Amino acid sequence: MKKAKKIWFNGKFLDWKKAKIHVLAHSLHYGSAVFEGIRAYSTEKGPAVFRLPEHINRLFYSASVLDMRIPFSKEEVKAAILRMIKINRLKECYIRPIAFFGEKMGLNPKGALVNLVIIAFPWRGLFGEKKIKVKTSKFIRIHPRSTTADAKISGHYINSILATLEVKKAGFDEAILLDFEGKVAEGPGENIFMVKDRKISTPLPGAILPGITRRTIIEVAKSLGYSVSEKKIEPRELKKADELFFAGTGVEICPIAKINKILINQGKVGEITLKIKKSYQEIVRGKEKRYFKWLTFVENDKGNRV
Ligand SMILES: Cc1ncc(COP(=O)(O)O)c(C=O)c1O
Repeated sequence: MKKAKKIWFNGKFLDWKKAKIHVLAHSLHYGSAVFEGIRAYSTEKGPAVFRLPEHINRLFYSASVLDMRIPFSKEEVKAAILRMIKINRLKECYIRPIAFFGEKMGLNPKGALVNLVIIAFPWRGLFGEKKIKVKTSKFIRIHPRSTTADAKISGHYINSILATLEVKKAGFDEAILLDFEGKVAEGPGENIFMVKDRKISTPLPGAILPGITRRTIIEVAKSLGYSVSEKKIEPRELKKADELFFAGTGVEICPIAKINKILINQGKVGEITLKIKKSYQEIVRGKEKRYFKWLTFVENDKGNRV
């Protein structure tokens, strides 16, 4: 991981090494933090953040699930992210805002201070241009009645970590988690799409984190003329798919070449996956005017000091 110079900590720009928290932070003990994974890409008009308002809305939604009051407005958080990119002189980067409860023992977080940190650093994504091998995990995705599954809460990620450790040990790149009904849910940090007979489908919201990339792909694929449906998908359907790919901020559009022991599309990247992947890369880098609506350009930053 490449470090950047500064980290934004409750409104102050601290040196990377000095951004530390207390060992009694409630969120460290109980997983009661909320966070986002956002990316900025290099465009002709300088760096631009992809779908910034949507990510900030989700951050505040996740916080509301924990009854956590982030002590900054959405506008202030957006401005702080743009300043971070500028101050650290980043061209392309990953941005990780995280809100967490400070010192407090006991499960009830009421009374603990809420902190907000923004980290931004250069990053090229999770799998690069790799076609990956996935394995169905023995762990099911968190039950939507055990928690609020569509919030991005740190504690949820134990589920993802366990699935990842399991499949990495077996020599695979990434896991696929099923839901409590045995239907396909998602990857540990990304959503899944299937292509069969030129039709695209993806699991319904409910047990999954319905990603911003997922929403993007549904819109883009439809505008490219494909039919896209959100539906329950059986694990056996994945094995018979013509194409499979993951979609998420970290992996962008990542082709799946093999699931368990089965090769998908003879291990080659499918035509539709390739088309969507190419389109996504163009959109995030500002090469498609009609999708400028999804970009927040750092150069437009009004210089608000937060
Ligand atoms: C469990 C899970 N599913 C899906 C996604 C994809 O979401 P997004 O496209 O908003 O990055 C993520 C990443 O945040 C995730 O952690």
